[in-house]
Amino acid sequence: MLRTLRSVWRFRRFELDADLRRLQGVADVEDLRELARRRLPSGVFDYIDGAAEDEITAARNEEGFVALELRPRILRDVSAVEVGAEILGRPAAMPLVLAPTGFSRMAHSQGELAVARAAQRAGVPYTLSTLSTRSIEEAAAAAPEARLWFQVYVWRDRGLVEEMLQRARESGYEAIVITVDTAVLGRRERDVRSGFSLPPRLGLGTLVEGALHPGWTLDFLRGGPIEFANVAGRGTGPGGGAVALAEYVNAQFDAALSWRDLDWFRERWDGPIVLKGVQTVDDAVLAAEAGVDAVALSNHGGRQLDGAPPPVELIEPVREAIEDRLEIYCDGGVRRGSDVVKALALGADAVMVGRAYLYALAAAGESGVDWVLDFLRSGTARTLALCGLRGVDEIEPSLVRWRTPRG
Ligand code: FNR
Ligand code: LAC
Repeated sequence: MLRTLRSVWRFRRFELDADLRRLQGVADVEDLRELARRRLPSGVFDYIDGAAEDEITAARNEEGFVALELRPRILRDVSAVEVGAEILGRPAAMPLVLAPTGFSRMAHSQGELAVARAAQRAGVPYTLSTLSTRSIEEAAAAAPEARLWFQVYVWRDRGLVEEMLQRARESGYEAIVITVDTAVLGRRERDVRSGFSLPPRLGLGTLVEGALHPGWTLDFLRGGPIEFANVAGRGTGPGGGAVALAEYVNAQFDAALSWRDLDWFRERWDGPIVLKGVQTVDDAVLAAEAGVDAVALSNHGGRQLDGAPPPVELIEPVREAIEDRLEIYCDGGVRRGSDVVKALALGADAVMVGRAYLYALAAAGESGVDWVLDFLRSGTARTLALCGLRGVDEIEPSLVRWRTPRG
């Protein structure tokens, strides 16, 4: 009996690093999300995980991928599969860009720096948000070899925007991503209920939450005060206090922004411009006419207009309308490598991911972001192999079909 027992008895090596130990039981993005849910105070988790109003669009972003079926080909020698792709005319290790997310230090004290370093290691572009909690310069210094893009929210104070563009240029950022779906902030009802503010307000409730989430609390307290690093002095409420995000955005962002303003950007930025938040074919055509370099089909992860269409459903008609004039990125709902392959089959050049890496960052810090990028890369490679394809350039529209007729 003892011999039998010995033959099957295996201990997993005890992992000393707590982040890596946590990752041992993780198989997919949903597992990371669950770890993040347990680790973060509920208000912080809900800010990241939540979306606008009934969260219908957020759910549809993911369901869109589920509704697509792959049509694998067989016997095609897939002994060597290559997932490299070109993004904005330069090679990337896979057809994926890390989307901008504000306040990443709420997920983990290393915040944007951890994500920039992981992007550098993985060989994919990372978009730093205007509302980042590490500055343009800090991110560039942390990952000097990374392809960094800078996401622009258009402040009423154009002087501030101009300053940020100059700082991005001087720090070697490759492209700007102008987000155009946030004229006013969407109503995130989880945040309304929790009274969420930035930085997270400390009160009796927070103390209880802090005790329930000691790992996050210690890390948060060690990280130093959270600030809007790119808009120093202009980033918080009166007297430097906490603000509700909606109040802040609605006071600072320019709701008068229009197509004409793109000229203003062209005059001040000579690199590539990505327009993020395109949600109709008509606007994709206008974007092509306006001479931008790429459109990110996006509804902001469902955080803005609830009822807006999922980006995955827009890829095909947008590609048909603009042909090869622009690059197309599908932003929203990507959780697996197979989603990447599906988006490319419909005509996208790359996908963008937001929550997937934020859950990872919250779950296991920088190692978590490494993990999720490797998960998405290997998932893309495996899907290609199982579909009988040796590289992303072999992906054709006939690879996918909608399982249910789309209305
Ligand atoms: C975002 N997003 C976002 N977009 C942007 O242009 N500027 C920003 O500062 C932010 N901030 C932000 C914070 C958080 C917590 C989330 C979850 C998202 C939207 C983001 O760039 C992207 O469009 C979505 O995250 C894509 O959907 P998935 O990948 O999260 O499903
Ligand atoms: C959000 C803002 C920061 O989605 O873009 O929360």
